[in-house]
Parts: sequence; structure tokens; C-alpha cells
Amino acid sequence: MLRDAYLAAQTPDAAPVLQIMERDDGLVKSLPVAPWLAPIEQWPDDERRALDLLKGKVLDIGAGGGRAARALLDRGFAVTALDTSPGALDVCGQRGIRSVVLGTVDEHAATGARYDSFLLMGANLGLLESRERAPRFLRALAAMAAPGAVIVGQGTNRTDSDDPEHLPNNERNLRAGRIAGQRTLRIRYRDVATSWFHYLCLAPRELADLAAGTGWELVEATYSKDSTVSYIATLRLVG
Ligand SMILES: C[S@@+](CC[C@H](N)C(=O)[O-])C[C@H]1O[C@@H](n2cnc3c(N)ncnc32)[C@H](O)[C@@H]1O
Repeated sequence: MLRDAYLAAQTPDAAPVLQIMERDDGLVKSLPVAPWLAPIEQWPDDERRALDLLKGKVLDIGAGGGRAARALLDRGFAVTALDTSPGALDVCGQRGIRSVVLGTVDEHAATGARYDSFLLMGANLGLLESRERAPRFLRALAAMAAPGAVIVGQGTNRTDSDDPEHLPNNERNLRAGRIAGQRTLRIRYRDVATSWFHYLCLAPRELADLAAGTGWELVEATYSKDSTVSYIATLRLVG
């Protein structure tokens, strides 16, 4: 999908590449892939500003087509792009991102790698998945963290949503003891589909709670202009 979108981005008059997001309650949405490849000049202000919060050696987690890794390289950062998708890392390679890791944060932590900053752009705080998975994810980052390290992550708060598209999902989650904003999704493109996966659309206060005891603490969460949903969170290594 990202390979096709990258090719389309370089082809005049190419049809937009669309992904289908499917939720486990039957909701289906079609979304353009092009934003995952956009140059930094086309990003929303808050996403651009998020890069200013990074320092030193950066791990771009769920790097996708490498839009953030590319922008960071252009700013002179040492950056590694990590993703579970070989196609995504192929596009990163085509964009000149040489340091790439195929796998999960847990697998990468086991190699003894060290970073000053961890970036979760593109709503990738969702990769914390669930109340159970989030502390393990954050501990894996703590294991790779150099002294003074930070996590900069983009989150989506569905827990506090009063949107009828989200309320039934939230209520079902609360009855099951899950975080209200947890979602179960899969992505379809042409004739392929990912497995179903959990995606955590949590409120900043829930992020702060989940971080307790993992080696991280939430220091700031700033909502995008005119939004009560999308925010940039900064966590710092404790101690
Ligand atoms: C929504 S895209 C965001 C891409 C990029 N961060 C951006 O802002 O353009 C999410 C990416 O996360 C990757 N991904 C999904 N699950 C992952 C996991 N458990 N660990 C690492 N990457 C993952 C997907 O393959 C996809 O490339």
C-alpha cells in the first residue's frame, strides 16, 4: 500500500491511493494514504512542532513511509525507523533512510540499542494497544532509553468522545473493563487485510496512569488547535 502510494506521489495525475479502515463493530472508512508520505511543509503545525521536542538519537516507531524520519535526517538527527511492515521500510529505504529495523519495540530492545528520543507520530500512541500491553511497550522503551530520554507521541482521545460514532464502542469497552477508547481494527488494501489489532485512543490522564511504574512520566499533553481529540504528549524518563 505505501509502495503504491509512494509511486503515485511521484506520478502526475495518479489516482489517490486509499486504505480501508474496518472496525470490529462493522464501521468502515476509506482514508487517503498520501498524508503518511507528505513532506514536512505540508504537515499540520502541531506535528511540525512535535519534532522540535526531540533530541539526540531518535527511534521513529511505526515509521510508515518515513515522513518524520526523512524530516529528521534533513535536520541532521541520527534516526532509526522501526516498523513491522517490510513494505513501509522499503519506502523508507527509497527515501534515503538507511537505518531501519523490521520488528517490534520488544524485539529491538533485546538488541541493547539505546536512544535519546522515541517518536510515535501519526496517532501512534495507539500502538500502546490496551491496558495490558501499554506498560510492556513503555518498559521496552525504558530499556532502550539513554539518561534524560523523552517519548514524543501523537495521541487520539476517544475516551472522552460524545460522538455517536464512538459512544457505543466506549460503553462496550467500559462494560468489559477496557479503556473506553480502545479500538479493534484492521486495515484493508486491494485484496489484502491486516490481522485484527488493538489500537488505544486514550485520554492524556489515562496515558499518565499507564506510564506509572514503567520508568516514564507524562510531562505535557497539548491538544491540536481547535481539537479536543488529537494531542501531542511528552513523557520523560524518571530518575
Ligand atoms: C498510521 S501509520 C503512521 C506512520 C508514521 N508514523 C507517520 O506518522 O507517517 C502506522 C505505522 O505503524 C506500523 N505498525 C503497526 N503496528 C506496529 C507495531 N506493533 N510496531 C511497530 N510498527 C507498527 C504500521 O506498519 C504503519 O506503518
